[in-house]
Amino acid sequence: MTTAERTLDEAKLESFLGSFIGDFGGSISISLVYLGDRLGLYKAMAGAGPLTSSQLAEKTDTHERYIRDWLNNMAGGGYVEYDASAGTYELPPEQAFVFANSDSPVFMGDGALGFIPVIWAAEERMLDAFKTGAGIPWGEHDSRLFSATEQFFRPGYRANLTESWIPALDGVHEKLQNGARVADVGCGHGASAVVMAEAYPNSSFTGFDFHAESINTARERAARAGVSDRVSFEVAPASEFTGGPYDLICFFDCVHDMGDPVGAVANARKQIASDGTLMLVEPFAGDKPEDNHNPLGRLFYGASAFFCTANSLSQEVGAAIGAQAGEARLGEVCSDGGFTKFRRATETPFNLVLEARP
Ligand SMILES: C[S@@+](CC[C@H](N)C(=O)[O-])C[C@H]1O[C@@H](n2cnc3c(N)ncnc32)[C@H](O)[C@@H]1O
Repeated sequence: MTTAERTLDEAKLESFLGSFIGDFGGSISISLVYLGDRLGLYKAMAGAGPLTSSQLAEKTDTHERYIRDWLNNMAGGGYVEYDASAGTYELPPEQAFVFANSDSPVFMGDGALGFIPVIWAAEERMLDAFKTGAGIPWGEHDSRLFSATEQFFRPGYRANLTESWIPALDGVHEKLQNGARVADVGCGHGASAVVMAEAYPNSSFTGFDFHAESINTARERAARAGVSDRVSFEVAPASEFTGGPYDLICFFDCVHDMGDPVGAVANARKQIASDGTLMLVEPFAGDKPEDNHNPLGRLFYGASAFFCTANSLSQEVGAAIGAQAGEARLGEVCSDGGFTKFRRATETPFNLVLEARP
């Protein structure tokens, strides 16, 4: 039966409209979360107990009337709790853990949701891209993208990278403890390189990215963290970085963004020591689209269209494997790039951690 011949099921329509209204409200809520973060509303509410809208406005030097709408939107989504008898709002500890605690592994504040205004700003270019297949280079997006990416990924690197991802690779932790050479390709603002340098003071780290503005910021980040003696950053496309042989070459959430992931991995093969390790950290995904038709896959497919696919299509080859490429496709990229051994070293609910060896 074709779609045209299918009859309208009233109950399904109602249920779909219900979930659509939830999504529509949620999309506006996320914009308000972004504003609330910038205004310091979550940090002001964390641990403060129940507050009226006037008290929150006073604490944050904001206008009560806007704060009242903000709080009621947050209460409607379960982000804050409302006590109707007292007319107060409270940020529960779990929500504070996500929005107000910058040490939390799931922290979503300090601009991590900056993808939202970047998406607003890309509207016209995306319309054209959808029609023509044109790409949008990473560096041509609104500049909030670069720090949003850093803030979004850094908590996960701090929680997992040296605690579980590197230890899951064969023999790499010991090499880094003794002193090894590491390349961090597509390093952005350098969050991963800084985390590794803090944990492994005997090793040296070079971050590469083709986006010069990100490399400047990465250098500042390393200086601020006091690790510039062992971390340096250079502007280079992934298919052309040099300086090997490296004991460990990492691509954090970027190989799928590249126009030519096989070319990038083939260059890593040239630059890697004969007993070296390639680590790809990629968004968690199953191999088939239907494996990813869930809330997380939905988030990643959306980000993929705006940023990853768009960037890849702006580069030579334009493979556009996307942010939900999955382990099997990434394994092909590694073998086409000249690596012979490939396995899933570990995973988190958000990440695949893949290991390839020459
Ligand atoms: C999603 S960001 C990840 C940044 C960083 N690895 C992190 O985890 O925070 C993707 C990065 O890949 C970089 N990139 C994309 N294509 C590249 C290429 N062909 N060569 C080098 N870097 C590239 C972008 O500039 C961007 O910094």
